[in-house]
Amino acid sequence: MLEVKDLSFAYKDQQIFEHLSFTVEDGEIVGLVAPNGTGKTTLLKLLCGLLPTGADTLTLNGLKLYSKRIAYLKQLFFLESSNQLYQELTVRDHLTYVKEVWHSKVEIGPVVESLEMGSYYKKVIKDLSLGMKQHVLLAMYIISDAQTMLIDEPLNGLDPTSIQEFEEVFLQLKAKGKSLVISSHQMDSVGRTCDHVFFLKDQTLHDVTNTGQDMMGVYNHFFPKAGA
Ligand SMILES: Nc1ncnc2c1ncn2[C@@H]1O[C@H](COP(=O)(O)OP(=O)(O)O)[C@@H](O)[C@H]1O
Ligand SMILES: [Mg+2]
Repeated sequence: MLEVKDLSFAYKDQQIFEHLSFTVEDGEIVGLVAPNGTGKTTLLKLLCGLLPTGADTLTLNGLKLYSKRIAYLKQLFFLESSNQLYQELTVRDHLTYVKEVWHSKVEIGPVVESLEMGSYYKKVIKDLSLGMKQHVLLAMYIISDAQTMLIDEPLNGLDPTSIQEFEEVFLQLKAKGKSLVISSHQMDSVGRTCDHVFFLKDQTLHDVTNTGQDMMGVYNHFFPKAGA
């Protein structure tokens, strides 16, 4: 379980969050929704210690980030975007690296097969399309086998078939008891996959009831267009 207590953060004089508190249970998918530039990526970076927080703010399965940083981070996987993959290394290099560093028992072969990555498994990252790189990133999350997964806009650049495939993976990870925090602009997908939906507005999180349907209407109500 991830516990966030009284999280505040500013970039210089731009306040991004004020007094956020929430928890993510095991086997739960939390959707993080907000317009571009609101703070989704910033929140994910805060949750894994890439940006500073207070001493008592973050606790993961009883371990505080502040005092047990390495043990805390071992239980978590986050890579902000597929732009951060190593251009000159292959897909296989990336997956092997994650398996070793996270001491994971998840086998690479079946993951590559189920995500249909066989045709580019031995290619270097710079020769892949955006959709392929998104698959590599998802495979890294699966192979990490981390208890908590923070996933930033994983559906960007995917075709509709791949979106369904990714949603199935999220639900399989949930069924294994993983905690997932997923930022997304795909409001139909959010409705299908998330247990809790947080809309980020006015430096705080709003726990919005998931209708189980396309959440676009709720989104438009919450974030009205200028002049509407
Ligand atoms: N490294 C940074 N330094 C200063 N301001 C930043 C930095 N990263 C993001 N910001 C600002 O923080 C706000 C939230 O950014 P971000 O978390 O990337 O939003 P989102 O992921 O929701 O699109 C934006 O206004 C952005 O300009
Ligand atoms: Mg972002």
